[in-house]
Parts: sequence; structure tokens; C-alpha cells
Amino acid sequence: MNMRIKDHVILGEEADAPMIEITFDGKPIKAKEGEPILAALLSEGVIISRYTVNKKEPRGLFCGIGQCTDCAMIVNGQANVRTCITPVERGMVVETQYGIGGKDDD
Ligand code: FES
Repeated sequence: MNMRIKDHVILGEEADAPMIEITFDGKPIKAKEGEPILAALLSEGVIISRYTVNKKEPRGLFCGIGQCTDCAMIVNGQANVRTCITPVERGMVVETQYGIGGKDDD
């Protein structure tokens, strides 16, 4: 499923950029080079970035400008990466974050 917007009513036509591959929770997905990680995930229908520490509630895109941390994910083994402001890079490994992102967190 690809939900990428090709022609936005305000922003116009989608910018041209090479498509690359990243991995999300073990599955390969296509991304547009340089776009935010979260944009690539949303275009594939992924809306949950992390689960909260205490209540285990799902979080995803909220502010979209790097201020709220609801989009925090594990990127290339590093926890708490704000994916709404971090550009995708070829071969990047992105994982849903549970709790604070440690291996023993649920
Ligand atoms: S959505 Fe708020 S920091 Fe990314």
C-alpha cells in the first residue's frame, strides 16, 4: 500500500528524488531520498511510532516539527530518534520503539 500524495492542493506536485530502500520492523519499504523517516512510513500506512513507558499506549505523528517526541523510534539501533525531522538514508533500519527503547523494555 502506498499512500504518497503526488499532487498536493497547496504544496503542488511531489518533488523529484530517487527512491531508496529502508527497513521497518524487519520489512523493506521504499522511501524518497531525503524525506523525513516518518513521511516514508506514513506513505506505507504505518501510523504507530512508539508505545509509552507506563500505559503502553501507541503514539505517532503529532506536531511534525520535532517538538513533542511522539514520533520517537529506534533508528540504526539508537532509541528516541524523532523521525518527523530525521531524513531517511539508504539502508536505514527503523524499528517501533517500546518504552524507552532498551532491549529489556516492554
Ligand atoms: S511528531 Fe512531534 S517530534 Fe515528531
